[in-house]
This record gives sequence, C-alpha cells and structure tokens, in this order.
Amino acid sequence: MSSYDDEKVFEEYLNSRIDSDSPHNKTIRQLLLDTVGDYTDKTILDLGCGIGCFTCELASKAKKVVGIDISQKVIDYAIKNNSKENIQYFVQNIENLNEINESFDIVFSDMVFNYIENYDKLLNDIYNHLNENGLLVFSQVHPISTASLGESSWVNEDNKLKFQLDNYGNLSKRSRTYFNGTFDFYHRRFEELINGAIKHGFIIEGLYEPYITDKEFNRPSFLVMKMRKK
Ligand SMILES: C[S@@+](CC[C@H](N)C(=O)[O-])C[C@H]1O[C@@H](n2cnc3c(N)ncnc32)[C@H](O)[C@@H]1O
Repeated sequence: MSSYDDEKVFEEYLNSRIDSDSPHNKTIRQLLLDTVGDYTDKTILDLGCGIGCFTCELASKAKKVVGIDISQKVIDYAIKNNSKENIQYFVQNIENLNEINESFDIVFSDMVFNYIENYDKLLNDIYNHLNENGLLVFSQVHPISTASLGESSWVNEDNKLKFQLDNYGNLSKRSRTYFNGTFDFYHRRFEELINGAIKHGFIIEGLYEPYITDKEFNRPSFLVMKMRKK
C-alpha cells in the first residue's frame, strides 16, 4: 500500500503532472528528457513510474519501456491512460528489484529515490539491471531542501524571504506534508549521492540543479543526476 493509493493524494499528484504550468513540469520535465538524450531503440526501466507520463513519452522512441510502481492506483491509471504496445506496467516495489530478471539500456526515475531507505542497495540493484554502458538518469528533491527536520526553513527577515539550512548532517527519516498527504522520506547528503555512484562503478556524466523561480535561485528544490555504468 502506497500513500499514492489515497484518493486525495492521487488527485493532487495527478494535477501536478497534467498541469503544464505546475512547478514540476516547468522545472524538471524537459531537463530530464534532455539529460536522457537519444533513447531511440533503447530498452528502459522507469522506476516509480506513477501515472506513466514519462514512461509513455519515452516509449514514443524507445524499443521497450517497463514502468514499475508500488501503487496499484497509479499503475491502473497508467494502463488505462498511458499505454502503448511497447510498454509493460506492473506493481513492483523498487526495494525488490532482484525480482526483475531483465537488464536495460537506461534506468530512469523521476522524484522517487527519496522514498527509498537504502540508497546503497538501490544503486547496486540498478547497476546489476543495466547493460554495459547503460545509463541511469534520476531526479530527486535537492539535499539542501530535504535537510530541515521541520516543514519549512523559510524565514522572513527584514521583509526578505531567507532560507535557513539546518540539520544537513542529520540523516534520520523526515516527514513532510504535500499532495494532501503526509510522506516519509530520506534525506541524504551530497557526499552520499556522489560517493555511492563512485563506489558502485558509475561514471557521473552530469549533475543539474534546475530553478525557475527566484525562490529556487536562493535555494535549489530539485536535483537531476546522470551516471553511466562503466
Ligand atoms: C512523486 S511520484 C513520481 C511518479 C512519476 N515518476 C512521475 O514523475 O510522475 C513518486 C512515485 O514513487 C512511487 N514509489 C514510492 N516508493 C516506491 C517503492 N518502494 N517502489 C516503487 N514505487 C514507489 C509512488 O507510488 C509514486 O507513484
């Protein structure tokens, strides 16, 4: 059972993906696709595919795309609304990737990694599911934005909104409210993201901190990483 199975959460999440003006679509959608590059005739695994918006877009040129998600509700929506002949959707926990007996040219994931507790195992499992020279492209919430233990670190000082960074080194689980629900997620420092990639034999090919608003210019919200299996 996933929080995304909740009707109210699902609706908010769905709106954020179908509204072309949503912060997600304006900030990272195109960046993610550009970062993947040419995916013509590639085989792709979309981890935490949600309603399948990226899965479907990638399938327009890819040979085959497999979209997995822990939520039955989002998979049902994806099958009904974002299907193509070369897409397979199924309910699957990313934490049990070893249950998938297939390897891919590209592993893609948008805004999912913060929900996974064991980043080290995740990278290891992804590495084992990539073909030689395979690519991993993922986005997540920026480590600076996940650091705070509270809901918000913005303070109004002298009529100026300022961001206070705290608890960056505290690696405990966080809980935040968005999409009409309360979500548990994991804060990780930059050194874990980078050193994890190096430890598992990836070459880091790109790291991006997109922003569209002045607020994000002062404090990045998202992070996109591109790494390749050696
Ligand atoms: C923010 S949504 C992003 C969905 C999709 N990638 C998108 O961009 O529209 C996060 C997704 O991760 C899924 N998820 C969370 N934990 C998961 C897990 N352990 N295994 C598989 N999917 C998971 C949720 O069900 C949800 O659909």
